[in-house]
Amino acid sequence: MKRHPALIPLSRDHHDGLVQALRLRRAAAGGDASARLAAAREFVEFFRNEERVHLRDEEEELFPLLLRHVRSQPAPLREARVQHVQLEGFARKLDIAVAAGAVDRETLDAAGELLEAHIRLEERQLFPLIEELVPDDELRRLGLADRDATCAVRRPPLTS
Ligand SMILES: [Fe+2]
Ligand SMILES: [Fe+2]
Repeated sequence: MKRHPALIPLSRDHHDGLVQALRLRRAAAGGDASARLAAAREFVEFFRNEERVHLRDEEEELFPLLLRHVRSQPAPLREARVQHVQLEGFARKLDIAVAAGAVDRETLDAAGELLEAHIRLEERQLFPLIEELVPDDELRRLGLADRDATCAVRRPPLTS
């Protein structure tokens, strides 16, 4: 299904997220301790630099739009919000594991699985629901963070 133009920046972020999820699961399945550490470190940075902006856009801009057009919170929205909290939890847990220098397979795999499941839920259920229920002119006024302006934060230049 074709994405509404207003949601395309978020769908692009989802693509980056799926790449991260795949890396986590690969490192969990076949990587040695140093590969797991590297994948976890990359995820923590991805979360800090990109995913937080994305989650904030969804929580503060997109989800309230949908809530204006429903009587009660739809199941996919409820599930997505729970997953946001769980993702924050994994980012914290992996941050601590990276600092300690050891990342276990189970946590890495579970984080990758959750991230992938979350993106699939949004792309397959939640975004289609939003496109169906939120009028076009409201979606067009969606105030997402400027992807170019936040680029320096989202993708910090390599120093040295
Ligand atoms: Fe989300
Ligand atoms: Fe998302």
